[in-house]
Amino acid sequence: LQGLEPDEIRALLGLTREFAEQGPRPVLTGRTVATLFFEDSTRTRTSFMLAASRLGATVVDLSGAGTSMSKGETPTDTAQVIEAMGVDAIVVRDKHAGVPSLLHRAVQCSVLNAGDGKHEHPTQGLLDLYTLGESLGLLDSFDYSGLNIVIVGDLASSRVARSTTAGLSALGAHVTLVGPPTLAPRKLSVLGCDVSTDLDAALEDADAVMMLRIQFERGAGRQLAGVADYRVGYALDPERAARLKPGAVVLHPGPINRGVELDTPVADGGRSVVLRQVRNGVFVRMAALSACMATLPA
Ligand code: CP
Repeated sequence: LQGLEPDEIRALLGLTREFAEQGPRPVLTGRTVATLFFEDSTRTRTSFMLAASRLGATVVDLSGAGTSMSKGETPTDTAQVIEAMGVDAIVVRDKHAGVPSLLHRAVQCSVLNAGDGKHEHPTQGLLDLYTLGESLGLLDSFDYSGLNIVIVGDLASSRVARSTTAGLSALGAHVTLVGPPTLAPRKLSVLGCDVSTDLDAALEDADAVMMLRIQFERGAGRQLAGVADYRVGYALDPERAARLKPGAVVLHPGPINRGVELDTPVADGGRSVVLRQVRNGVFVRMAALSACMATLPA
């Protein structure tokens, strides 16, 4: 989402709303979409597959295991092989930043980024924006001026934080990224947001708070004194959630580390829109696929 104009983001959110309110249309009949996930996923992979098939496309699902990648074939070669079979779009996730751009330069078909390393997760950013608009009554304008959005946790590892912050800033929101200095480096302010270590201060005026997973698999645990210590300053437990202002909502991109960054009574409580995010992810991916593939010959 970094570099997209506000009008481009609003157009994608408007298309998302059409699919959410009017249901899918068979705009991709006769097209083929390949999902190429070199890193694990539940939400993104499944929702791209459901979105493509509900729009009428044929879906081919590949993952790192079970493909010739295990024999040393590169992502670029794999993408070119799939394209040679007549695929119209490739949805790719990789642990390395920049792989979607690499594939985009190697093939003629559409390439959609389903998350690349610590760089971007644009459809997650869009579904976060859409869910906020839905929760806060802004679906007619997608103008987020005056909103205070707080994003908390393992920001250093988070491609979601980068995409969602870029999108929120483009739509006019004020974003504060909060975490301990090891997980919330000051340099993230280049995204056009504030960076803070004080969660309780940031939450006072928050219209929404998005909790991020501590990415232990990317080594974030080594940046902490310990989970118990982290929770004192940065967990959204029931006591902190009770101090949120009326109407404020709680988001999490998932998967949640319950009892680490977010407690079960909050994750499953009345302020939580976590499952709305998941539901909206299918509509956002319908919008992204149809927007990208509409430029191809029918
Ligand atoms: N939010 C997200 O990307 O979840 P998955 O890893 O399950 O796709």
